[in-house]
Amino acid sequence: MASVRCLFRDTAINNRYRNSIRAGIILAKKESLNMQDTIFITGGAGFIGANFVRYIFRHTNLRIVVLDKLTYAGHKVSVADVLKSSRVIFARTDIVEAKAVRRLFQRYRPVFVANLAAESHVDRSIDSPGDFIETNIVGTYVLLEQAYQFYQTLPEARRKTFRFLHVSTDEVYGTLGRTGLFKETTPYQPNSPYSASKASADHLVRAYYETYKLPCLITNCSNNYGPYQFPEKLIPLALLNAAEAKPVPIYGDGLNIRDWLYVEDHCAGLWLALRKGKLGEKYNIGGRNERTNLQVIHALLGALEKALPAKRNPAMIRAKKKSYLELKTFVRDRPGHDRRYAIGADKIRRELGWKPKHDFESGIRRTVEWYLASRRWCRQVQKGHGRARLGLKTARRR
Ligand SMILES: NC(=O)c1ccc[n+]([C@@H]2O[C@H](COP(=O)([O-])OP(=O)(O)OC[C@H]3O[C@@H](n4cnc5c(N)ncnc54)[C@H](O)[C@@H]3O)[C@@H](O)[C@H]2O)c1
Repeated sequence: MASVRCLFRDTAINNRYRNSIRAGIILAKKESLNMQDTIFITGGAGFIGANFVRYIFRHTNLRIVVLDKLTYAGHKVSVADVLKSSRVIFARTDIVEAKAVRRLFQRYRPVFVANLAAESHVDRSIDSPGDFIETNIVGTYVLLEQAYQFYQTLPEARRKTFRFLHVSTDEVYGTLGRTGLFKETTPYQPNSPYSASKASADHLVRAYYETYKLPCLITNCSNNYGPYQFPEKLIPLALLNAAEAKPVPIYGDGLNIRDWLYVEDHCAGLWLALRKGKLGEKYNIGGRNERTNLQVIHALLGALEKALPAKRNPAMIRAKKKSYLELKTFVRDRPGHDRRYAIGADKIRRELGWKPKHDFESGIRRTVEWYLASRRWCRQVQKGHGRARLGLKTARRR
């Protein structure tokens, strides 16, 4: 079995990435928040969480406490560089454990809570919905309840600054026909155990705002891509498989449509919503980058060809394949596969001035370069985890 290890180029791109982070740390105009102020970022060792931790580290002076259970999808190595700073504290925590969460609130007294901890893979939710109910629903409840208990102990002035941001998904809205966009007012119609658990959590957050006046906000974002995504989701899985000359699976007819956003643009939207969003409101975040899965695969394989030409890739030479396109393999569709998502993000653009910086082509190029240069990270996070097909157990249950 060919390993990705031998396929990657030197670490130049990785170094460039790190240097740009260092430069960012020095140059970025920091928010003038109090040095003692603390933000809790749950799920901060996961894909979006790790990017958000970096974003907050670069753009603010906040102390960051990462609460993460470290499931298969969470890895300390994803935040290893920022953990070197005394401003970033890692607390291995299961958000379902009320006592542990309470202790952290009492000890670090956060001004902001950003909840990104979740079970996030639809295919896994089809095989094992229980984990999704626990973390996404019970975990969010525990976090809200502990936040509320802590909030009640705060003096009036601190209450005014306290904010709880719940990070959710466009999948709560269900599926669209050929036209139309999800709006913040679109009724929830989740179709997978994952989206149903996220929808339940959103309702709990709303209820804590309406009933207890806990200062909460919700964001619902479209599909993210970029560095540090565990290779089970479409883009990193297809990319690593192709780099190893393995089949690139495409579910069904490949014509399901998703609306793609580069993860850094999502992080910028989260920070804006957390600081400037109106309490009790929901904000959709998305880049209006609708693509069929087939279009995504073609763009990805095209970018891979540029970064690592098939004719110079030893795995492709061994497999006697001339083009990455030969690896495309249509497989059985996901049960209940939503056909189309498209997010209307007018509200966050209009009210908070958010707009994405990355277009799909440049985001994909950066993503490909990052994965090819991050061979150690890929090896470390995949230890004990293959890239086997998941999410077909429903068929057997019927
Ligand atoms: N990835 C996307 O495209 C996308 C799009 C919109 C919204 N979201 C939402 O953003 C959030 C982050 O998504 P992601 O893609 O980074 O997910 P991820 O699966 O990559 O990371 C989830 C993180 O949560 C941690 N975690 C899981 N259960 C936990 C628990 N009980 N206690 C503490 N930590 C726990 C994991 O260890 C991991 O670090 C999720 O809430 C997800 O629903 C994701």
